Amino acid sequence: MSDLYYSDYIELDTILNSQHPRSFEKMDDGNDEMLFIIIHQAYELWFKQIIFELDLARNIFLQDRINENSPDMSNVVYKLKRIVKILELLNHQVSVLETMTALDFLEFRNYLLPASGFQSKQFRLIEAKLGLKMEERYKKEYYKHTRRGSLSENDMQDVNQAESESTLKQLIIQWLERMPFFDEKYWADYESTSKTNADKFWSDYRNIYQSGLSENEKGRSAEFDNVFFSEGRGDISPSAMQAALFITLYRDLPIFQLPFELLNTLSEIDELLSNWRYRHFSMVRRMIGIRAGTGGTSGAGYLEGTLSQHYAFREITEVATFLIERSKLPKLPNVLKEKVSFQV
Ligand code: HEM
Repeated sequence: MSDLYYSDYIELDTILNSQHPRSFEKMDDGNDEMLFIIIHQAYELWFKQIIFELDLARNIFLQDRINENSPDMSNVVYKLKRIVKILELLNHQVSVLETMTALDFLEFRNYLLPASGFQSKQFRLIEAKLGLKMEERYKKEYYKHTRRGSLSENDMQDVNQAESESTLKQLIIQWLERMPFFDEKYWADYESTSKTNADKFWSDYRNIYQSGLSENEKGRSAEFDNVFFSEGRGDISPSAMQAALFITLYRDLPIFQLPFELLNTLSEIDELLSNWRYRHFSMVRRMIGIRAGTGGTSGAGYLEGTLSQHYAFREITEVATFLIERSKLPKLPNVLKEKVSFQV
């Protein structure tokens, strides 16, 4: 048997024989269509890896129980941090395409009509698996049909299927809701400024938070009550919001370090995706101005709208609204500090 050969192992022939610039058949001198195809293919390959990592992270969370100090937890954080690194690369990659000018793009733009990145199923799968819902999208009417320039019926079905499965966001919410650190048993020796037990922690915290608000932010008091004791925020229940805030506040305790890393990484993923949307949007404006997109949207105007609306973990990031200074943090009871275990 012959030795495994590099190009066979990575199926290089298939990859390198998959660039067929349509304008090359009609034009003698090469234009930038080759670059345009290769850059999209490179993106799609990295999208594939992101989906792979996301599915692994989701599978870990799909277990009934996940121990915050176990390899499971560090594996999730590790997978998500890898996604962060890939997204950094994808942001950087935009500048390679920006070496093409608007006139260069016009040379071959008509050859790709009505295809568009809007039809990238993998991009939609990433968004859906993270937890962005069709209903929450900017100009959601664009997504509801499968006309020319939109997703095909089959691709649309796959995206709908991904949305109907447990998304990373839903799994994170369930994990936060399972956190047991507000059980009464951990709070017996809590020294409240008023009374003593877990509820008192929140009433103390609320007082400290309120007293730190400036005159024009007084409305945040009612918001605090609403977010942590009544409605929650967005998709996230009050108990999950309490857990997210608590982890953020006491992240210096060893047991909260990985959970904090996890929450922080989710915000980082949202931020990097938004950065990519911004870079893509400004590149599009430079390439086609305010012309409609090949995918049938309004073009740059649509892309600008997605920037601020397509966050999957907005509520987690906005926990920062409700922080107080470290020096003012209520002291946790010793029983909680020593005994809190997430395997309850
Ligand atoms: C000359 C370069 C590019 C131009 C002029 C361009 C233009 C556009 C436009 C106008 C849209 C809005 C949908 C439409 O009506 O077509 C769009 C969406 C999109 N493009 Fe591009 N694009 C370019 C490069 C890229 C590259 C390199 C990628 C990498 C995969 C990409 C991925 C996407 C994605 C994922 C969307 C959907 C965004 C969303 O709906 O949030 N585009 N593009």
